Amino acid sequence: MSLATELNETVNIQTGEQNSSYPVVTGTYNEKGITIDKLRDTTGYVTLDVGFKNTGSTESTITFIDGEAGILEHSGYRIEELASKSSFEEVMWLLLHGELPSEAELAGFSKQLKAHRALPVGVKGILDALPDQTHPMGMLAVVLNSLSGFYPAYDDSWKSEEVKWNTIYTLLANMPGITAYIYRRSQKLPYIDADPSLGYVENFLHMMFGKVDERVVEALDRLLILHADHEQNCSASTVRFVGSSRVNLFAAVAAGSNALWGPLHGGANQAVLEMLEAIQLDGGNVDKYIAKAKDKADPFRLMGFGHRVYKNFDPRAAVIKKYVDQVLDTLEKEDPVVDIAKGLEREALKDEYFSSRKLFPNVDFYSGIIYRALGIPVSLFTVMFALGRMPGWIAQWKEMRQNGEPIGRPRQIYTGAATRAYVPMSER
Ligand code: CMC
Repeated sequence: MSLATELNETVNIQTGEQNSSYPVVTGTYNEKGITIDKLRDTTGYVTLDVGFKNTGSTESTITFIDGEAGILEHSGYRIEELASKSSFEEVMWLLLHGELPSEAELAGFSKQLKAHRALPVGVKGILDALPDQTHPMGMLAVVLNSLSGFYPAYDDSWKSEEVKWNTIYTLLANMPGITAYIYRRSQKLPYIDADPSLGYVENFLHMMFGKVDERVVEALDRLLILHADHEQNCSASTVRFVGSSRVNLFAAVAAGSNALWGPLHGGANQAVLEMLEAIQLDGGNVDKYIAKAKDKADPFRLMGFGHRVYKNFDPRAAVIKKYVDQVLDTLEKEDPVVDIAKGLEREALKDEYFSSRKLFPNVDFYSGIIYRALGIPVSLFTVMFALGRMPGWIAQWKEMRQNGEPIGRPRQIYTGAATRAYVPMSER
């Protein structure tokens, strides 16, 4: 089912003697895509785009990014405006429905999230059974997968409206409890039950720390909004791709969480803080690390810098950067790595290596400093990203199923050995 508008424009492709033409579609902001799904049938050729640098995998109404202008919008609402005027619960609704909720809709949504909050007892047993050194993201993926066993009635998550929404509410409502249990287990602290009188973010803080500091609520709410969705990134594409096999939603988001774990994606927030600490321990010599990042013989990369789509400031990073000093002031905290981060950014932005490659700070560059000020340990940072991103993954999955997208199955160009006779063991 095509949602984009077909233009009165075609692209012609010459393959040998044959000339074939392909329709061009356009989106809301006049971005253009060549529809090539018939290319192989017509010509025998496929397109080759390793890493999908130039391939649109879907048409979507959820999130828009203009990477050259540094713009991020959800259903037309700018991220800066959502971060300053909205709440995470409202943004979750926006991603799932495409509109901001009315007062009654928001109240109904909050009620559902409260009603589905109780974490299955067995989840705690699963987490307890894992070795202590298991990374929190490994724990998260295990638990997300296990939810299909705890909620067998939701195994066919697309069975009916009721099952679909119950699956969605359950996942969103269970995420704070799962995150808090992973944290408290690592600190050898007892689990704290959800408090039905509290909102989503307040309850999360209650389950984490046993207290709710209003200053922290606001800061965390804003961070979660900034992470809520980011169109067809590695983890969202994974959720859509895995979900396209019609597996249950729990399994699809478990796959997404594994994609997020990597240091080139969500794991970068942990990697940034570890990098800043390493630079601090090494005497705070920023220039040395800028030189390392530029040295092609050195595998070191400036973590929290660069983005596949943003070739300008990541607007989320701009909001977070403005917010770092404010949060530290409000919480009366100091963090020596803030100066190292600012020094790295200043030197990188002046440097031809970074400017010619259009490498700017991304969302992960400053977010860890705020998480740490809020009392969240470094190893939990990527789980915090997942807590914020869960509504985005669900919205992407829901859209993919709603549009009846076929199973994801790319082609390849085979470059291995040509047909040959089996070699018996004695002749190898
Ligand atoms: N430090 C040093 N050089 C870099 C960096 C960096 N952080 N990022 C890119 N480059 C260089 C890269 O070496 C290449 O140089 P050349 O053209 O000379 O070979 C050029 O810039 C283009 O990089 P690329 O790796 O081809 O670009 P990509 O679009 O495939 O990768 C990226 C994007 C985000 C994976 C990459 O910029 C990176 O590794 N950044 C550090 C990790 C990071 O911060 N990830 C979080 C991304 S935002 C949040 C999220 O997605 O979860």
